[in-house]
Amino acid sequence: MNWGIIGTGRIANTFAQALVKCTGSKAYAVASRTAEKAAAFASEYGFERSYGSYKELAEDEKVDIVYIATPMSSHYKDARLCLEQGKKVLCEKSVGINLEQTRELCDLAKSKGFFFMEAMWMKCRPSYLKAMEWIKNGCIGRVEYIKADFCNFVPYDENDRLFRADCGGGALLDLAVYPLTMAADVLGTPKEIISHAHMRHGVDMSNTITLLYDNACAAINSGFEIQNCNNAMIMGEKGYIAFGDWFFCSDEVTLFDENGKELEKCLIPHEINGYEYEIRECERCAAEGLSESPLIPHSSTLNVMQIMDECRRQWGMTFPEEG
Ligand SMILES: NC(=O)c1ccc[n+]([C@@H]2O[C@H](COP(=O)([O-])OP(=O)(O)OC[C@H]3O[C@@H](n4cnc5c(N)ncnc54)[C@H](OP(=O)(O)O)[C@@H]3O)[C@@H](O)[C@H]2O)c1
Repeated sequence: MNWGIIGTGRIANTFAQALVKCTGSKAYAVASRTAEKAAAFASEYGFERSYGSYKELAEDEKVDIVYIATPMSSHYKDARLCLEQGKKVLCEKSVGINLEQTRELCDLAKSKGFFFMEAMWMKCRPSYLKAMEWIKNGCIGRVEYIKADFCNFVPYDENDRLFRADCGGGALLDLAVYPLTMAADVLGTPKEIISHAHMRHGVDMSNTITLLYDNACAAINSGFEIQNCNNAMIMGEKGYIAFGDWFFCSDEVTLFDENGKELEKCLIPHEINGYEYEIRECERCAAEGLSESPLIPHSSTLNVMQIMDECRRQWGMTFPEEG
């Protein structure tokens, strides 16, 4: 597949490092708002074409699939631009700034039969899939409690998209989306959501979220103000599963019984940098002619976005473009 990348920031670089080593993929084109940046990126990773506008890349007929690596507030228009040109789209998380945007993108892709997937790379990683297999096979019985955090200290910088409301910043859409995805994957749609946030400059610097289910709950913290080791545990009536630190990208996951005795440890070191799994999932879906990935279906993306909308409603938080 001929890949195009839109945006040349932090994650675009990391992704490109994996892309150039994936055999079923070709690093074909990159687009930036600045032609010089696109050219420099193209020459660093060996992309054939570079464009000084996102539109030009979307209009290049040779591009099969576009990876969107722009800030949250741009995803909707960038993904729409590409879908309207008939491209397959892998869009960074969070796919939109709210449920409405996300639903429109999923509906557009579905109505045209075009592939559209959230770049929730965690869900393509072998360690995560192993944990889901243990749960499916009943290894820990009925899941009762999930504890997962993503707190990453980032010094405040008014120019960084993370802290800018006009870029769709804040810890919820950037960080909490991972633990929420895991919780919703395992437990589904919560009956009740209780959330608090520490707001500054119009974005949530830190937040805490409790998801309540009939016989289960999930406790999630995320934020830019403190650092922690970001592990995660999924606890059931017959045992528990512990992910290594930085759970969403950990190569290690361990199964314990109800007495805390280790039953199985699974260590699967990533082959490139961990992003190869989502790239391969796109390749697989394209080869099979799928418009949606069974690993990251639209329903999963939409379910999490709905939870995040409710958190923001409880905080009274709106982004500038929401009025
Ligand atoms: N999967 C992961 O592990 C992971 C990790 C980090 C981030 N992400 C996601 O990836 C996306 C990008 O994050 P990032 O950390 O790479 O961001 P970043 O370093 O700020 O880069 C974003 C890029 O988007 C483009 N852009 C378009 N409109 C912009 C605007 N108004 N302000 C700033 N940049 C703009 C810029 O590229 P040009 O100047 O070239 O146009 C910029 O370099 C986010 O959705 C984030 O949630 C995912």
